[in-house]
Amino acid sequence: MNKLPIFGIGGYSHPDCILLERFMPTLESPSVAVLDGSVECLGESIDFTAESYKDAYSRINAIVIEGEKEAHDNYVSIGTLIPDQAEELLKLARMEQRHMKGFMACGKNLGVTADMAFAKEFFSPLHGNFQEALKEGKVTTCFLIQAILIEAFAISAYHVYIRVADPFAKKITEGVVKDEYLHLNYGQEWLKANLKTCKEELMQANKENLPLIRSMLDQVATDASELHMDKEELMEEFMIAYQDALTDIGLDNREIARMALAAVV
Ligand SMILES: [Fe+2]
Ligand SMILES: [Fe+2]
Repeated sequence: MNKLPIFGIGGYSHPDCILLERFMPTLESPSVAVLDGSVECLGESIDFTAESYKDAYSRINAIVIEGEKEAHDNYVSIGTLIPDQAEELLKLARMEQRHMKGFMACGKNLGVTADMAFAKEFFSPLHGNFQEALKEGKVTTCFLIQAILIEAFAISAYHVYIRVADPFAKKITEGVVKDEYLHLNYGQEWLKANLKTCKEELMQANKENLPLIRSMLDQVATDASELHMDKEELMEEFMIAYQDALTDIGLDNREIARMALAAVV
């Protein structure tokens, strides 16, 4: 049984977002607003057509597309380590592929070309660690990297993005974030069921990989702020999803605190 999402996904929009020019009747959200290329949120106007916005978007969009591609490949790979789960993992992988296509459409909608070379480089340390764990048959490490860290990273980024996205991307991201909770919960369930035998590896994998997530957040902060996504907010959302997942897996407060500290030391 999947856990219910902890945020108001699917319908979140910031109450301070105000309709600027013409309301688009296809949008269900009563409070976001648009448009002709700009939206006002929290008193600030966001111009989706500005060159500075599109430049930052070319990297953020690429990171998201690459992240979804990595997620697809990772779930397929985990299926090779636990063949009895391969079919289920393939379903998750297909969802990731759909997400990737959705975000490609978001870039196209804004007339932005995603900087995929930048995104490949951005993911390469985490990609390398996943591949190493895969080669060594370390299922726990693979789940920690993909289903906990990457999913929590995606959930946090998508939640923050939904509040400031253009209407087209907002709709797509709202659909995607619901799926990411399913993926996070899938990993949680596996780790929970295997906690007795996997705790030590989980702790070690976390120590090696959480700092990478932290540095990924640092690297993306400037571009994210151009998209009106606040770094502190991203970190808060990440820690909430991450700690909630660890609680669900069955770790106690001290163990979770120890794991979370890996991000700051
Ligand atoms: Fe995804
Ligand atoms: Fe996912």
